[in-house]
Amino acid sequence: MRRPWLVGVSGASGTPYARAVVNGLLDAGQPVDLVVSRAARLTLLDETGISLRDNHADADVGQWLGRDLSVDLRYWTATDLAAGPASGSYPTRGMVVVPASTAAVAGIALGLSKDLLQRAADVTLKERRPLVVVPRETPYARSTLAHLLELHDAGAVVLPASPAFYAGAASVQQLVDFIAAKVLDAVGVEHSLITRWSGELGAGRAENGL
Ligand SMILES: Cc1cc2nc3c(=O)[nH]c(=O)nc-3n(C[C@H](O)[C@H](O)[C@H](O)COP(=O)(O)O)c2cc1C
Repeated sequence: MRRPWLVGVSGASGTPYARAVVNGLLDAGQPVDLVVSRAARLTLLDETGISLRDNHADADVGQWLGRDLSVDLRYWTATDLAAGPASGSYPTRGMVVVPASTAAVAGIALGLSKDLLQRAADVTLKERRPLVVVPRETPYARSTLAHLLELHDAGAVVLPASPAFYAGAASVQQLVDFIAAKVLDAVGVEHSLITRWSGELGAGRAENGL
């Protein structure tokens, strides 16, 4: 039986994180189901220039990911509340919401299910499957902090888009990959996106020639 990872992209800044996570899962041979919120279409357009059209979604997603469509990737429209991932009987391994807007964080914490992304996240929690939420906002309002604690207590991994510099990042892409690496670690998927901490100060920097 096909059991994909669900990746929900909400309308916070940070579509490169989503791209790196989806590509990391696909590179590891994992099937992926993708949901992009309506607001995320705006951030995608703003950050990449790519306009995600309902009738050309596969081609547009392929262009965004920079890969051909021979991989096991399924796109669902965020307004489609009858889509597979809206039901607990639809088999998935779990879900990553990356990036997670404060609105998505609130909606998932409160169980609002206002679109397919939020409904699928609610399903993931109720079915007790792994849920990783990657919030991107700064500073946080008190309400967001409270919602993040709710998600943590409900069993989600709250993994802020907060890249570290100890891996010796020499480019923005390496900072992006750091977050994707932490997401893949959280869901137990193999990758070689970063230089792991070895216990030796400066090793990451040296490896990247800095
Ligand atoms: C260009 C752009 C950047 C945005 N960046 C953020 C952000 O970093 N974090 C955030 O929480 N919301 C951000 N927003 C606002 C969200 O898109 C907005 O709250 C939206 O309602 C989120 O809806 P969604 O959770 O259904 O995707 C941004 C909006 C735009 C247009």
